[in-house]
Formats: sequence, structure tokens, C-alpha cells
Amino acid sequence: MKAVILVGGLGTRLRPLTCNTPKPMIPLVNQPFMEYMLLSLRDQGIDEVILAVQYLADHFRSTLGDGSQLGIKLHIAEEPEPRGTAGAVKNVEHLLDGTTFVFNGDVLTDLDLQAMLAFHRERGSKVTISLTPVDDPTQYGLVEIDETRRIKRFLEKPRAEDITSNLINAGTYVIEPEIFRYVPPDQFYMFERGLFPVLMQTGDPVYGYPSRAYWNDIGRPQNYLDVHHDILIGKVQYTFRGKEIASRVWLEDTADIHQSAQIVGPVVLGAGVRIGRGASIIGPTVIGAHCTIGTDVTIEGSVLWDNNEIEERCVLRSCVLGRGNHIGAHTLVSDGTIISDGCSLGAENRLERGIKLWPGTTLKDQAISF
Ligand code: GDD
Ligand code: MG
Repeated sequence: MKAVILVGGLGTRLRPLTCNTPKPMIPLVNQPFMEYMLLSLRDQGIDEVILAVQYLADHFRSTLGDGSQLGIKLHIAEEPEPRGTAGAVKNVEHLLDGTTFVFNGDVLTDLDLQAMLAFHRERGSKVTISLTPVDDPTQYGLVEIDETRRIKRFLEKPRAEDITSNLINAGTYVIEPEIFRYVPPDQFYMFERGLFPVLMQTGDPVYGYPSRAYWNDIGRPQNYLDVHHDILIGKVQYTFRGKEIASRVWLEDTADIHQSAQIVGPVVLGAGVRIGRGASIIGPTVIGAHCTIGTDVTIEGSVLWDNNEIEERCVLRSCVLGRGNHIGAHTLVSDGTIISDGCSLGAENRLERGIKLWPGTTLKDQAISF
């Protein structure tokens, strides 16, 4: 069975983490999200995937290749210009040969795909859209269904006064390729604002598939830390790499951990991590490969990608660090702060309240100080 994954968006909401890394390739628990998604699709019976890409295409090619290392057949299809969600699938229509899954490439879910497919076939549906309940649908695609689950209305990013349901488009579709006859070729065209509303008019059978499976859009900054929290506490079915070396502490390969360091799980440590004397690592926290954590540093509820160096007595709390940053001694980084890649911070800085540092930022000692 084939699938198309839409990964052409710019990931602007997640900047600066997506300045150097396309949104679907940002790591979740030390593994590029797309790599995880492909493995999980493979395990659910999908053997061929077309990635509809646009931005940083070479990054996808060099990391994922032809998919053979992941045991899946992978095509990377680059759009000449942004085609929108439906236009992107229209662009690869010649590669489709029957019922196909389409995925938004920024959703973490443990939805049962075979059950959804069985529902689609049972109803003789042309498009089946997975649905999930949310508190505030205004940021999503609102979907109204009748008692047979047939979709009556699809309204993308509804205004508060137009909300009639708490069910939204969860970003997984089962489609019959014939519906692409309604999609104009070589143009920007969206499922959400174009094809779905059109299908409401044509009368083609379009069904919703509500589920209580875990669901989260990783493309929103606060969600990125929340998703890690949910994975580490086991709220979503998710397999991450590493061996459990102590209660809820997982390590990939080997590490150099000082015996006086305190690690309170759930914590995942990447390969070659070094943790100094008196350091405290408090979960849910993920530390990427080859990070060096200095003496008496405290890290709590945070996610660090690879190759960061944290000098002595720093405190990192509820923050995200990209790759290859150097954080000077006695620095505080907290409250949703995001430091992207290759930043160098002098000693005794204080970064709080969601400050975002773009790649390569340099701060002198006490530049933002106590
Ligand atoms: N190839 C390609 N080309 N992919 C695209 C394009 C494009 O022009 N535009 C967006 N995408 C991809 C994005 O990379 C993402 O994986 C997916 O399509 C959805 O785009 P987002 O920009 O993340 O949309 P959203 O989160 O605001 O809303 C969408 O997802 C919600 C669920 O998370 C909609 O589908 C909503 O209806 C839905 O509720
Ligand atoms: Mg999204």
C-alpha cells in the first residue's frame, strides 16, 4: 500500500528550530521525526511512500535516501513551487495506483491505520478524514459529521462564532485517486480550502473517522516540549532508541556519567553524553548525542539536540536547545526559551520567557544578566 506525506510547509511557527532543519526532520527523542514516522508506517503495512517536499529537499535526500535502510520504498518528489496540500498530491498522481493514505507530515499519532482503512472500504468512501476532538478548533480544520459519520461541513481555521463541533481534521486521509479530477493541475490548491468544500457540493461520499488515538501537531512550539513529555511518560505508543540503564533512564550506546550526578527519569541520553560531578538531570528530559554537561548543572523538563556544551552551574528548565551550542557557566535558560544551532553564550546570562535565539547568536558574559 502507498502513502503520500506532505512535508512542504516552511515550519515558520517552529522557528528558529526549523532554520536549518525542515520541520518533519526535527528530532523527537533523538531521532528525526520523519524517520520515526516511516518506520511506524512500515510496521502498519505501508511499503511505499512519496514524500512531497519543497523546502530543504536535499536535507531529506541525504538523511533518508531511498528508504532502503528503513525497509521502505521512498520517493522524494520536489515541487517546482508550493502547490498547496492537494496540489502537492496531484503533482505525484502518476505514482498512485489505488486507495492511498495521505498524511500531514507534522502530526504525531498512534492511530490504527488498518482500522481506518477498513472503515473507508466498508462505507465505499472516496475520502475518509481522521478526526480528533480539541478544545479550540480555530487553529485547525473544523469538521461536522452526521450520525453515519458522513461529513456535512469542512471549515478551515473557523472563526470562534462559526464553531459548531469540537472535531477537527487530524491530518490523516484515505483517498481514492479519482477525486483528483477535481484538482486543477500545476496550481496551488488545498484540500482544506479547495477540494474538501468542493466534495461537499459534488455529493461524493466523504466520511470522518473520529478516534481517541493520541494526537498532537508537533509544528507548534509549546507542543514540541509537550510531545516529549507525552512520549516519555508513555501517553502515546512510541518506541525510542536506547536501553533502560536505571528506572526510566534510557541510554543509547555508552556515556560518561559522574557517579555523583543525579538522574531522575524519565530521561533519555544520547550516545557519548558526558555528565559532570554533581549535575542533576530531571525528567522528562532528552539529551542529544555527544552533549557535555558540566559540574553542578541542573537540567529539567528540557530537550537538547546533539553536541551541546553546558558549562558549570548552569540551570536549564523547560527549554529547547538545537545543535552545537555553547552555554557559559552560571547561565539560566528557562520558560520555553529556544536556542537554535551554533550559538555561543558567555557566562552569567539569563534567558527567560520564551526568548528565541537564531542560529549563530553570540552573547558576551552577562549580556542579558541577573
Ligand atoms: N508538499 C507540500 N506543499 N506540503 C505542504 C504545502 C505545500 O504547498 N503546504 C503545507 N504542506 C504540508 C505541511 O508541511 C504540513 O505537513 C501539512 O502540509 C499541513 O500544513 P500546515 O501548515 O502544518 O497546516 P496546519 O497545521 O495549519 O493545518 C493543517 O493541519 C491541521 C492538523 O494539524 C490542516 O490540514 C488542518 O485542517 C488540520 O486540522
Ligand atoms: Mg500543522
